[in-house]
Parts: sequence; structure tokens; C-alpha cells
Amino acid sequence: MGTAKALPSDALVFFGATGDLAYKKIFPALQAMARRGRLEVPIVGVAKSGWSREQLIDRAKASVTENGGLDAVAFEKLVSRLQYVDGDYNDAATFSAITKHLGTPRAARPLHYLAIPPSMFPTVIDRLAEAGLAKDARVVVEKPFGRDLASAQSLNQIVHKAFPEESIFRIDHYLGKEAVQNILYFRFANAFLEPILNRNYVENVQITMAESFGVKGRGKFYDETGIVRDVIQNHLLQVVSYLAMEAPSSTYPEAIRDEQAKVLRNVRPLSVEHMVRGQFNGYRDEPGVAPDSFIATYAALRLHVDSWRWDGVPFYVRAGKSLAMTCTEVMVELKNPPQVVFKEAAPSMGNYLRFRVSPNVTIALGARAKQHGEKMVGAPTELRVVEEPEQGKEGRLGDYERLLGDAMNGDATLFARQDVVEAAWAIVDPILHGPSPMFLYEPGTWGPKEADALAADVGGWNTPT
Ligand code: BG6
Repeated sequence: MGTAKALPSDALVFFGATGDLAYKKIFPALQAMARRGRLEVPIVGVAKSGWSREQLIDRAKASVTENGGLDAVAFEKLVSRLQYVDGDYNDAATFSAITKHLGTPRAARPLHYLAIPPSMFPTVIDRLAEAGLAKDARVVVEKPFGRDLASAQSLNQIVHKAFPEESIFRIDHYLGKEAVQNILYFRFANAFLEPILNRNYVENVQITMAESFGVKGRGKFYDETGIVRDVIQNHLLQVVSYLAMEAPSSTYPEAIRDEQAKVLRNVRPLSVEHMVRGQFNGYRDEPGVAPDSFIATYAALRLHVDSWRWDGVPFYVRAGKSLAMTCTEVMVELKNPPQVVFKEAAPSMGNYLRFRVSPNVTIALGARAKQHGEKMVGAPTELRVVEEPEQGKEGRLGDYERLLGDAMNGDATLFARQDVVEAAWAIVDPILHGPSPMFLYEPGTWGPKEADALAADVGGWNTPT
């Protein structure tokens, strides 16, 4: 994939260097990039923690060790390029210090990664512009981009004050996942699938993003965010767009994002009757969480794509923390064949297409085949087309590594464009603001039992195994 040809960024500045995201995702991605020789530029970490460069290096070491493993040679390369600026994001001196670390002559096209709370974006963007650090630079902005449609629009205006659209990279790491790209590839690189991926053959689509862990020390962030803003408005609606979009042409670089925007605009804005919200028992005791918090850690939704292709096909989406397992899976269930020849299969003949997105990657087709013997009796079977270990493991390209590399090269294909972000907010906006019931569920389960009713007319939720 590729957008317009652009010069690569010649430095990487990341704000929030001592934070959670840098620890979990950015340092491991930087080490992986160093390993592949793709990080030959100055790197400047910025934060306000009262730390020294040595402390940041220790933190980086702990980060890569815990998240994928230390590669001594690659890590040394990373360290040799890593500088640290400790300072207030509101203080011009912080930005002069960043400039000093951008090499001599100074890097002319830095990439600024804002791995910081959204409330800090305006300040950092203003200071970058004042310090002359926004000129010819790129900016990566973490999700969620805004808190709803209106705030996403104002945030966009703020970012645009300093950066033109082609320099803005709204990151959604699900788009960097191989398995998500494979949804698009598998659909349109094969002839057999497209004729059946529509209302004539598809019974329903289900997407489950289950996590067996809770908020893992991110209580404060989570309690301001909740499940819909954290993973549904972005990660899961991106998956919906890849599953439901029309074929993008390869004749111009924005074709994929155009199709994403088009299909998401066709998704009916949600109403509370099409949603079940839940909170796991014990969430309110997490540090940083309000004792009377009404934030959902689980949501199940029923979406309608009002398009010629998908009219009448329900798209069920559910996501939750502290569920029975960790796994993201897409299930496209096909309609039953006429049961006039073999009548033994009920309630479903078990034809489906299954994409396991994480932790491991699978593409499988569900079918039935006759069992050996005199009787015309079959059994479900699965044809595995793809089976791969977790992304980022065993030397495979990780999602953040992929996306950071793309952003440094100015390729925005796998980043969320503003119209796509806004179309996604427009879908969830009505359920963010309206009152709706909240159901408690026990950790380690599949969420509140009230969600079962939502998918009852298609035989219930697909339970990944
Ligand atoms: C992040 C969310 O964007 O995605 C987390 O903030 C979530 O709450 C995470 O756990 C899941 O992504 P992955 O790639 O680790 O499955």
C-alpha cells in the first residue's frame, strides 16, 4: 500500500516517554525497528517525570524485556540514538531542549508522536508550532481521537492549526494488525468470496473482542474513557469497515480510506435499544476509578449497515474487559442451504468464515462433510487457510512497528482519516450521551447475561474457543 511519495522523517520525538503506552508499545517497536536497521535517526523522548536519561534507558530496557524480549545489539543501537528531555509541556524551554537534540544540522522533518493524554494535545501542538518544530514535520496522534463527534471535530481544528492533513497520522494500531489487513486482502484477492459476502448469503456478522484482564493500572484513563471510546469507536469499527466495504480500486492512494468512510457513513447511528452495557464486579475498587463509576467495561451492540449489499444483515459487536478469555474474532455466518436433501443439521449447517485477529491469527471456513458410514450424516469441519502465531513474535512485524515505520515514511493508508473518525463517532454518539442501564457481570464470564437477548434471533453469540 502507498500514498503519495514523501521524504522520510529524519527524527522521532515522542511525548509521554515515561508513560504506559511508551512502555508497552513504543519501546518494543523502536527496538524492533533498530533490529531491522530502520531507525537511523535521532530519537528524543519527552516527559515531565523528573527523570534522567539513564532512568529512561532503564525503563526502556524493562519495557522491551517484558514486552517481547531484550535484543542486546538492537537495544544498544536504540540507546545510542535516544535522548531524553524532562520538562513541562507548557514551557518553551522544553521545546528548545528538544531542538538541541535534533542533531547538527537540525533534523528538518521530525515526526512527533503524542503518546500523551488528549487534554495535553493543544498545548503541545501550540508549543511545537511556536518553536518552529511543526514545519515540515509529521504528527502521530493516539486514539481515541476526541471523546465524541463534536470534540473530534474541534481536536481536528487544533491539530490543523499547525499541521496539514497529509502530515497528520491518527493512529489506530488495529489497522497495523496483519490479521486486520488480511480481512481486506482475503476478501478481494480471491474470487470465491465476494459473490457470497452480501445479504443473499450472510445471516449475520459477529465481532468479539474479549480480554481476560481488567484495566491493568489504567483506572484513571479508563474511567474517563470506557469500552465504547476505548476500543469500539476505533478498533472494532475499523474492522467493520474492512469487512463491509466495497472493493477499493488501486488506481489512487486514498481508495481504501474512501471506501471505509463510505461504508461507515452507511451504518445507522446506534440507539440504546441496540446496546447492552456492563461493568465487571470489582471495577469500582480499581485505583483511579470512582467508587460510584457508571463507566462500562463491556458493551454489546447490534449494528445495521444500510447499504444495498448489507441491508437486513445484523452486525453484532461486543467487547469487554475481565471476560472469559483474551481473543478478538470475527465470525461471518452464512445462511443455511435449503434443507430438502439432508435434514439432519439444525439449527445451523455451520457454514461460516472466521477471522481470528488476536492473539493468534487464523482464517478458517466452516463447512460440513459426510461422516464415514452408511448413513448420510455429516459433521462440522473447518478448513484452515491461515494459521499464524501472535503478531510481533518470532521476528514478525509488530503492529506498532509497522505503523511507526509507515508514519516515518509518510504513508497514511493504515491511519484513520478524519472523515472515517467522524463517521465512526456519528455511529456511537447517541449511545455515549443518552442514559442506559448498566448490568454487573462477574470477572471470567462472557459478560452480562442480558446481552444474550440482543443476539437471540440468530441463535446467540459465537463463543470463541
Ligand atoms: C488499546 C486499548 O487501544 O487496545 C486497550 O486502549 C486494549 O484497552 C488494547 O487492551 C488491545 O490491543 P491489543 O493489540 O493489545 O490486543
